[in-house]
Amino acid sequence: MRSVFLVAASLGLTAAEDGLAGWLRYAPLDESIASEYSAPTTIILLNATENSPIASAGAELEAGLSGVLGVEAKVAEGACDTASSVIVGTVGSYQEACGDLPEGAAELGEDGFWLSTEGEDDTVQIIGQNERGAIYGTFEYLSMIAQGNFTKLSYATNPAVSVRWINHWDNLNAGGSHGSVERGYAGPSLFFSNNAVVSDTSRIKQYARLLSSIRINAIVINNVNADANILNDRNLDAIAKIADAFRTYGVRLGLSLNFASPQSVGGLSTFDPLDQSVISWWTRKTEDIYKRIPDFAGYLVKANSEGQPGPITYRRTLADGANMFARALKPFGGIILFRAFVYNQLEYSNRKADRANAAVEFFKELDGKFEENVVVQIKYGPIDFQVREPASPLFANLPTTSMAIELQITQEYLGQQAHLFYLAPLWKEILDFDMRWGGEELRVSDILTGKRPGGKTVARGGFAGVSNVGMEKSWLGSHLAMSNLYTYGRLAWNPWDDSVDMLHDWTRLTFGLDDEVRDVITQMSMESWPAYENYTGNLGVQTLTDITGNHYGPNPASQDGNGWGQWTRADRNGIGMDRTVATGTGNAGQYPPEVAARYEDVETTPENLILWFHHLPWTHKLSTGKTIIQHFYDAHYAGAETAQTFPLLWQKLEGKIDDERYEAQLYRLEYQAGHSVVWRDFICRFYNRMTGIADELDRVNNHVWRIEAEKMTLSGYSRANANPSEAASGGTAVTAGGGGGTASAEIPFDSGVYDIAVGYFDVSNGKAKWTLSIGDEVIGEWQGDVESRISKATSNGLDGHSAARKLFRGVTVEKGQTVKVTGSPNGGEGAPLDYVSFQPEGILD
Ligand code: GCU
Repeated sequence: MRSVFLVAASLGLTAAEDGLAGWLRYAPLDESIASEYSAPTTIILLNATENSPIASAGAELEAGLSGVLGVEAKVAEGACDTASSVIVGTVGSYQEACGDLPEGAAELGEDGFWLSTEGEDDTVQIIGQNERGAIYGTFEYLSMIAQGNFTKLSYATNPAVSVRWINHWDNLNAGGSHGSVERGYAGPSLFFSNNAVVSDTSRIKQYARLLSSIRINAIVINNVNADANILNDRNLDAIAKIADAFRTYGVRLGLSLNFASPQSVGGLSTFDPLDQSVISWWTRKTEDIYKRIPDFAGYLVKANSEGQPGPITYRRTLADGANMFARALKPFGGIILFRAFVYNQLEYSNRKADRANAAVEFFKELDGKFEENVVVQIKYGPIDFQVREPASPLFANLPTTSMAIELQITQEYLGQQAHLFYLAPLWKEILDFDMRWGGEELRVSDILTGKRPGGKTVARGGFAGVSNVGMEKSWLGSHLAMSNLYTYGRLAWNPWDDSVDMLHDWTRLTFGLDDEVRDVITQMSMESWPAYENYTGNLGVQTLTDITGNHYGPNPASQDGNGWGQWTRADRNGIGMDRTVATGTGNAGQYPPEVAARYEDVETTPENLILWFHHLPWTHKLSTGKTIIQHFYDAHYAGAETAQTFPLLWQKLEGKIDDERYEAQLYRLEYQAGHSVVWRDFICRFYNRMTGIADELDRVNNHVWRIEAEKMTLSGYSRANANPSEAASGGTAVTAGGGGGTASAEIPFDSGVYDIAVGYFDVSNGKAKWTLSIGDEVIGEWQGDVESRISKATSNGLDGHSAARKLFRGVTVEKGQTVKVTGSPNGGEGAPLDYVSFQPEGILD
């Protein structure tokens, strides 16, 4: 078997892969590399009980050494000095079996591990402070091997923070009549189906493995918009089985709670957190849970936010609410993550109103009032996972409270995994931000590790990542999006890790050791945030998406004029939120003085946040000399240009990675390239109309290479308005009736070679087909089936979510030939067509 693998690998053949193994593929190394390493042949597990993380470590070592090196190492009994062995244990079991700890292993903190690959006679030592640490060390060793890194080394490592949690927004009704994973873009829930907890945990064990390898120590499996029925006996029994599955890999389980549960499912007349009957109800419920799940991690609570019940309903404070749970959990060592995402609907007419102020307004005065096992969980920015936000000011307003940062791995506002977005650089920018709290250097990452001004500390801190992986084999839907899950775990362990270093490791583990594969993926990933920011929302104005809808495609009109507070305050004169203390909402003043002063002044506010903090005229000049409106136009054109390069870069990797993942990702990148132009055109049209200020380069609304569908000769097709109108070129598209339609025109451009782009709409209630022909020749056919290929949010309307673009490269045409698009409707999809563009080389029309 082994030689077959190696022959296949050395021939460069790449077997199909579905992504299920993520970065834990244990793919065979080339023999030339593998032969450099004298791998251990015996695996000695100290104190491995059935289903324990140490037993899992043994299974991983067998699979890993076999898969990567072809070495059939086996778990066996053996002495501590058995030659050619890898020994795995905890500090306690090691001391018992082998005597003194190696120097260095003595300093391990909770979940930490010691790894040494430089023992005599090819021995490897992995010693965890606990069983969790032991499996972390095992995965680290296997990660080195899988990357062909056989360095001899010894070191101890400890986590920067104790809270390294994953949150899931999975609904109990998942797979039922509606809903599954809120803001999930990779299929239904792993945990719930048809209003019940799943009983088959095989997929969950695979997930547990991935999470353990990135050192996640707890997972909350249900939505923060919590269904109180999660707590009934039948569900808790089934959840205990899920906890068992996670426990084999050292991941503990937590639950989101609905604050009103004592009333809605407990039969009490109240859910007042100071009412004794309510306190007793939660105490008993918590005892119940610990009876079933003795290592239960704790609770996650969203209270008094977006319609959720909470203590404020009874005029109690949020701390009263959090502490009620904290006291119930304390005897068992559990903790409560209490979300700071609390805000009210606001009056748009009030220029002082500001949702960005809400978290500090609600929580600042509660500092010092929380029980020791409360951790306040704070979204990275003051609003809601936007393409760019300043760090939340709340991080520098709770001197004695433990805090966790909430990051979103699922790309809710960031392209929903249909667009490439490597998140680590965005997260790093927040983590690295120096709050100058107390006038000293105190970065957000320091604050999360418990540091406070004046050398003070608090007990805990950490990370909560909303992953929302689903049943799709690739976990997040997009293979490249998995770098975000991987680096999330890496940063939770070590927030000072480097975005590119982490990505390189992930790339090698996921796609192999080829340098070009690594370089291409690194280039695309590192360009992905700037590109997306360029073609969505610039200068700190937020992601200009459909704020009241599905948060996917462009719709800037939805930002303003409502109570949600994700405002841009754009009008014909200017744009941006005035958050200064002097004339605005005062939000800048929520930061420590040095930072506050920087944000108060337009001259010292970083330009990429200038519209977050200031309302400025469209004609305000930036440091580049460009006006804001011209910057918007240029950035959108630049962002879409960059996105066009992604499929071309990816195509360099054909044959270097397996076809299955190659094709699946290529589809997404081509789709993204098209949708980036949709974004560009929509946003440019919208602000062009609002401001009446022309693009200096005369690109906006001036598509000289396009033939608008509504101006073509139509048969079976008729005009249809897009809504919003900016979603269509010229404001109008055409759709066909049941019998189908054709749209044709004489090509007015000079004979030559063109990239032909067709603008169309891929709505989700049908799978229409389109055919493009030039003269008698069929250039290509495609189907409107993105809804079954990418699990992003869908739409049945002609809007910014459904607008799409298909590209045919290098087509030779002659002036005067007929271009024809034939549309065959299906279901509710009338093969909607917007335009055909003939792009000469180097032009992105
Ligand atoms: C966002 C998101 C909601 C989610 C909420 C939260 O608003 O769109 O789906 O419930 O955040 O974090 O609680």
